[in-house]
Amino acid sequence: MENLKNYIETNKERFLNELFNLLRIPSISSSEDHKGDMIKTAELIKQSLLNVGVDKAEVCPTEGNPVVLAEKFINASLPTVVVYGHYDVQPEGDLELWKTPPYEPTIVGDQIYARGANDDKGQLFMHVKALEFMLRNNELPCNVKFMIEGEEEIGSPNLYKFAKENKERLKGDVILVSDTAMIANDIPSIDVGLRGLAYVEVKVQGPNRDLHSGVFGGAVANPLNVLCQMVASLTDENNQITIPGFYDDVLIVSDSDRAEMAKAPFDIDEYKSDLGLKEVYGEKGYTTNERTGIRPSLDLNGIWGGYIKEGAKTVLPEKAHAKISMRLVPNQDPDKIAELFAKHFKAIAPPYVEVEVKPLHGGNAYISPTDSIGFIAASKAMEKTFGVKPIPTRSGGSIPIIAYFEKELGMKSILMGFGLETDAIHSPNEHYGLFNFFKGIETIPYFYRNFTELFLRK
Ligand code: BES
Ligand code: MN
Ligand code: MN
Repeated sequence: MENLKNYIETNKERFLNELFNLLRIPSISSSEDHKGDMIKTAELIKQSLLNVGVDKAEVCPTEGNPVVLAEKFINASLPTVVVYGHYDVQPEGDLELWKTPPYEPTIVGDQIYARGANDDKGQLFMHVKALEFMLRNNELPCNVKFMIEGEEEIGSPNLYKFAKENKERLKGDVILVSDTAMIANDIPSIDVGLRGLAYVEVKVQGPNRDLHSGVFGGAVANPLNVLCQMVASLTDENNQITIPGFYDDVLIVSDSDRAEMAKAPFDIDEYKSDLGLKEVYGEKGYTTNERTGIRPSLDLNGIWGGYIKEGAKTVLPEKAHAKISMRLVPNQDPDKIAELFAKHFKAIAPPYVEVEVKPLHGGNAYISPTDSIGFIAASKAMEKTFGVKPIPTRSGGSIPIIAYFEKELGMKSILMGFGLETDAIHSPNEHYGLFNFFKGIETIPYFYRNFTELFLRK
């Protein structure tokens, strides 16, 4: 691969222009208004894969947004790498907070600013360009399949069925994913854990209509007040979750594993200053990395009701709503957790309100071993291009479909991500480093080579 760096250098501008075309389409999966954009984005990815020389590529319809499948077959005796990624993005949020327009990718300094620049268009496109290098330079050592979905950010509601129904077509030996973060550009790491998720929406209903807060205030329970009290009671003074049974199945990490994890470099002051925080928060007895890596959490994602427009309106609202996510760790079952939540939330509801709990989506946590040939291939690839051995880490984020892939398709996923936690994914001014984008393209071909060698030696 002598010409790999050279190839990237020569084609830099074109790679960026092509990525920017992808970033210009607002492929927001949570909004019905963007159905057309989803199809456009899927078609563009299909075309970009055909352009680099796959045998076939297809935009496969589902009941939701389509999945792009592509394949380059070389030889049945060779292993198959399955690349997974997602072309959908989170909504841009408050436009006023963006310094550059979210769907007009802009380079500022050494960063690409745009919604999806990192998560996950920038990261998935590295795989397309790495494949381009391998195909044009006779360096592809094995078979490859791409599976790029358009609903990851809403919990992959249609990919479960799709994967089950297309088991044969998706058959391979390892899943390669770039959709996570590293510790720092000079401290590469590979995620060996993802948290699971149980996401619920709740409604607290009081009187049968909005009331005058003077005429009735103090005599009729205010659902917003009640909801706030109920939510506040879900965590205790040690910042532990109070739902009975919540921790029952939590996999306890051994002291020696915790000591191993604690060796990963982490600068708490940098962490605080990046987030503009005076102090960090979390479950008593655990470090910041443990709080996201090996412990579950519960967060309000939104809470609403009553009057929120200009000025003051005196009202006692009839109902209040909230969206609540619970991040889970290995062995916790998302359906069971959603049920425990619902049971508890109804149990703590005072008699003057009615409570509804609706589970929205969920997924299992994931862990991958560090002695698999997939992990070793990724570790050696990063060591080659970064000059240092990557550290295995556990991420607090979720990619719920990953655990299902293991169960249904029988393949482990290797989470070789190139982003940084400071890239502001899901936030205003999401960005992705030029260094990270090009380093990813450079590293991926080594993964293929290492994996194929290790596979054939087995
Ligand atoms: N790429 C992220 C997950 C991630 C980010 C993992 C950083 C590790 C490090 C993914 O796109 C994401 O945002 N997932 C959602 C899943 C949910 C919407 C079902 C999440 O974690 O909130
Ligand atoms: Mn992602
Ligand atoms: Mn995301």
